[in-house]
Formats: sequence, C-alpha cells, structure tokens
Amino acid sequence: MNLASSPAKNVILNKILVIGASGQIGTELTLALRQRYGGEMVIAADLKREADLLKGTGPFLPLDIMDKEILRVQVRRHEIRTIYLLVAMLSAAGEKNPMLAWHLNMQSLIHTLEVAREEGVKKVFWPSSIAVFGSNAPKENCPQEAYSAPSTVYGISKLAGEQWCHYYFYRYGVDVRSIRYPGLISYKTLPGGGTTDYAIEIFHSAIRGETYSCFLKGDKRLPMMYMDDAVRATIELMEAPESAISVRTAYNLAGISFTPIEIAKEIKNLIPEFSVVYEPDFRQAIADSWPESIDDRVATRDWGWKPEFSLKKMTEEMIRHISPGLAVSSKR
Ligand SMILES: NC(=O)c1ccc[n+]([C@@H]2O[C@H](COP(=O)([O-])OP(=O)(O)OC[C@H]3O[C@@H](n4cnc5c(N)ncnc54)[C@H](O)[C@@H]3O)[C@@H](O)[C@H]2O)c1
Repeated sequence: MNLASSPAKNVILNKILVIGASGQIGTELTLALRQRYGGEMVIAADLKREADLLKGTGPFLPLDIMDKEILRVQVRRHEIRTIYLLVAMLSAAGEKNPMLAWHLNMQSLIHTLEVAREEGVKKVFWPSSIAVFGSNAPKENCPQEAYSAPSTVYGISKLAGEQWCHYYFYRYGVDVRSIRYPGLISYKTLPGGGTTDYAIEIFHSAIRGETYSCFLKGDKRLPMMYMDDAVRATIELMEAPESAISVRTAYNLAGISFTPIEIAKEIKNLIPEFSVVYEPDFRQAIADSWPESIDDRVATRDWGWKPEFSLKKMTEEMIRHISPGLAVSSKR
C-alpha cells in the first residue's frame, strides 16, 4: 500500500478505537493503522472473537456497540480520540432480516456519534456504501449528489446514516468522515454477506479447482475496489486537513468496474481450466438497482484520491496470495 511514508504534520497521534475490527475491512484497516501509528495506539474491538490476523499486533476489547454506556466507559478509560466504526449488517444479509439490520446499523452509528459528542472524541470514520443509490440514480458514472431511493434496508440505513453524520458535524462539530465504498475484494479476510461477495468467492473456487456457481448474471457490471486501495483511501481521508473536506455526508469512491464474465476471463488467463456457471438468485435484483460505475471526482479534488489497482493487477495479487490450503469452498 503506497501511503505517504509517515503521517502528515497536521495528524495528531491520539488513541484510536476500531469497532468491528474482526470483520472483512476491520481486520485489514486495524493492521494498517497499527503499522502506521503503532500497535498500542490502536485498540481493536468486536462482538466476536479477535481475528487471528490481529493476534499479537495490539490490544483487543470484547465490545457490544449496542450498549452505549459500555462504549462510553471504554472511550473514557482508554482516552480514545478517534473512532472507526465498521459494524453493520450488509446488503444481502439485511434483506433476510430487515428490522434487525435497521436496528444494528442505526443504533451502532447513533451510539458512536453521541459518545463522540459527549466525550470529546475528535474524529469518527463510518463507511457508507454504493447501496445508497437506487434504480433511479444514473447507472454510469453515478454523480456524488445523485438522487437516491435505495432498494434495500441496508441502503436505507446508509442513506439515513449519511444524514446523521452531516447533522453531527454541522450541529455539534463532531468531525465525522465517510466514504461510499464499492464492493471490496481481499484475500486476507472473507466477505460478510454482501451482494458483491461473488468477486471474492470466485477466486477461492478457482484456486480449489471447483466450478464457481455465480449468484449474479454474467454481464452484471458493478463498482468494486481492491482492499489495499480502500484501506489507503480511508487513511488518506482521515489524515486530510479538516478544511479540505467539503462533503459531510459520504464521498463517492471508484476503483474498478467489471462483470463476472470479465473477472472470470482474467482468472482463466492464469488458471485456464477454471469455469463458471451463472445461477442468479435474489441478489441479482439488489445488484440491478445499483450503479455500474461511480464518479469520484469530488474525492480526487478534495483529498487527492487515486486508485492503484486495475482488474489485472488485482487478479494477479489475489491468485498469488490465496493458497490452496486457505481457499474456502463457495459450496460451504
Ligand atoms: N465489504 C464490503 O464490500 C463493503 C462495501 C461497502 C460498505 N461496507 C461497509 O463497511 C463496514 C464494514 O464491512 P465489512 O464487510 O467489514 O463487514 P463484516 O460483516 O465483515 O464486519 C462487521 C464486524 O462487526 C462486528 N459486529 C457485529 N455486531 C456487532 C456489535 N453489536 N458490536 C460490536 N461488533 C459487532 C462483526 O462481528 C464483524 O466482525 C460496514 O459498515 C459495511 O456496511 C462494506
């Protein structure tokens, strides 16, 4: 990951709390933050056990974000000044239990924003998603301010969450920053129930020598991003001077847009015997409601965002790093 070699002068090193640190993004973000600011400066917290990759790299706290008072106690005890909140029920999982998704996604954010306001936490990062865009939004190069009527409870919770972030900044001065992540692809961690999970599962099947059964149609184009780019974007956004941040809802962010057929072709260049069958399920309708590509010029203008990973480069990295022993069957 090509971050500037050390934090900029405007970055004050205070204790950081990462909530949801054992998840797909949380694990990699925590590792990157620890590498940059020091292991002891970054406290990982999650409801589930500490991720194996985090063990021995810094402190871990068992924490249920649904208990606001416990969060307050931990923020005071550890003198936390920055929080990264990564807890959410994702798009596909949320459609199976809409009320639970709404409750978790909203309460986790409100608890964090309230404790930040009351306890003097200086900065909060909370990710939004391309799921804020509904079928009414432009499919190509979807603009920062496109009108949104999301089709999933996950998207509704992200859209409402963005407005809460905006409110807490203007009403209370809490420096909340956010990115609308596209589908994120990584080899270190497994996906957590989103509509773009196929783009990780497909690599695991290819490496295991299995035919992959894709739950989206072959020509379904979606915005995606390699995890290294997403983690770097997150840290760059959080280190940007406050005066550079013009968007207090969430920034559009683009990486690479591709279809299942296109990613399968890249994989076949390296594993020629690999094959895919297409068996779309309920996730196809969710994917159909999202944009195919994202206009992220505002992020580029404000804090210099630029992706580094192409589809080819990402495919090579994924195949190089997923060993046959670690690959997980998509039939699990
Ligand atoms: N992964 C993607 O492709 C993607 C895309 C867009 C946005 N996002 C957003 O990024 C964030 C992280 O996503 P992810 O893919 O890492 O999710 P994930 O499901 O892999 O991780 C979420 C973590 O939160 C933890 N958690 C759940 N309930 C909790 C609670 N009550 N208290 C404490 N911890 C709890 C889980 O144990 C899990 O480790 C989410 O806000 C998600 O909406 C992810």
